[in-house]
This record gives sequence, C-alpha cells and structure tokens, in this order.
Amino acid sequence: MIENRLRVAVIIGSIRKDRFGPIPAGWIAAEASKRSELDVDVIDLASAFLPEVLGDGGAAPQAVQDLAPYLASADGFVMVTPEYNHSVPASLKNAIDWYVDEWKAKPVAFVSYGGIAGGLRAVQQLRQILPSLHATTIRDTVSFHDCWDLFDVEGQPVDVEGCNAAAKVMLDQLIWWAQALRDARAARPYDG
Ligand SMILES: Cc1cc2nc3c(=O)[nH]c(=O)nc-3n(C[C@H](O)[C@H](O)[C@H](O)COP(=O)(O)O)c2cc1C
Repeated sequence: MIENRLRVAVIIGSIRKDRFGPIPAGWIAAEASKRSELDVDVIDLASAFLPEVLGDGGAAPQAVQDLAPYLASADGFVMVTPEYNHSVPASLKNAIDWYVDEWKAKPVAFVSYGGIAGGLRAVQQLRQILPSLHATTIRDTVSFHDCWDLFDVEGQPVDVEGCNAAAKVMLDQLIWWAQALRDARAARPYDG
C-alpha cells in the first residue's frame, strides 16, 4: 500500500463539438479511480480555453495559469487522444506546448481511439514529442479501433473485461513510474 496517494490527471485531448473523447476518458478515469494508490483529476481541454497563439516568454495568459496547478500537482498523466490526419489533435499539442516544468520527469500513459488505427499513430507521435519535455511514456496503451461501436450507452466498453484488463496493465505501469519518479524528484530535484 502506498502511503501518499499518487495524483493522476486524465487529459481529454480533443475539444471539438460533439467529440467522442469524453467517453473513453470517463471510462479510464473511473478505472483509475478504483485504484487505491490514485487520486484522479479529469482535465477537459475544451473547458481550459488555452490560447492558440503561444506566448513570448512574458506572463502566461490567465487560462494557462489557471490550468497550471492541476498539471503541476499531477504525478502522472493519461492522455486520451484521437488521431486527426494520422497525427495528434492540435488542441492536445497546444496544451503540451504551453507548459514545460509541469511535464518534467513525469510519466504519461495513453488511451487512444479512432478509425482502423485506433489513434495509435497519434500515440507514436506523442512518444516523440514528450521526451523533449523530459517526460517519459508508458509502454502499454489502450486503443479503441473503429471506436464508435465499442462503448455502450452508459459509456462502458462493450468488451468491458478485456478493456479493464488492458487498463490494469497500463495503470500498473503508470503507478510504478509515477511512484518511482516522485521519489526521485523528492530525493534530487530534476534539473534537466
Ligand atoms: C480533422 C479530423 C481528422 C481525422 N483523421 C483521422 C485519421 O487520420 N485517422 C483516423 O482513424 N480517424 C480520423 N478521424 C476520425 C476521428 O478518429 C474520429 O472522428 C474521432 O471521433 C475524433 O475524436 P473526437 O470525436 O474526440 O474529436 C479524423 C477526424 C477529424 C475531425
């Protein structure tokens, strides 16, 4: 049993009207909340209203400041991402780009969804992006291929047993890394 619970932020990466993202995000947030080691925040980028034009190094815009404590207090993240034109949605990339220290020396796991590739091409690109911010990525993912028929009306995966088992594998890895990196940051602040 972990003494101090780890804080994990589930980030809904898409922001468009009538998006699918809140469905897989709601499911993985509920699965994460069942874990005794975790406290879970859900960060919906559609409600964060981050500016689309990045700053010039001066004071951060208010919306960026408002979201910062939620990212800063997280020991790890689950990014819930679709794939737009074989890539990361601009809203998620924008959110990543607005922050630096908030990602540093922390683990990021992925739940992806989309058409035939299940959002995995976006995940592969996130695996290239996040190390530039000194974040580490979790090996196992959960991906929903041709996602539209894979959840019931209550937002549960149709294959709930298989999906929850896949979530457990991913969350086990996220918890290990979140604990290890929190201990490491406390022992010696990361100055990369
Ligand atoms: C601009 C755009 C580009 C898309 N490109 C892809 C794609 O390359 N591969 C894919 O599998 N699905 C693609 N899709 C379908 C999305 O995976 C699907 O619409 C999904 O629901 C998007 O997530 P959202 O509803 O949370 O925004 C695209 C959708 C949009 C809106």
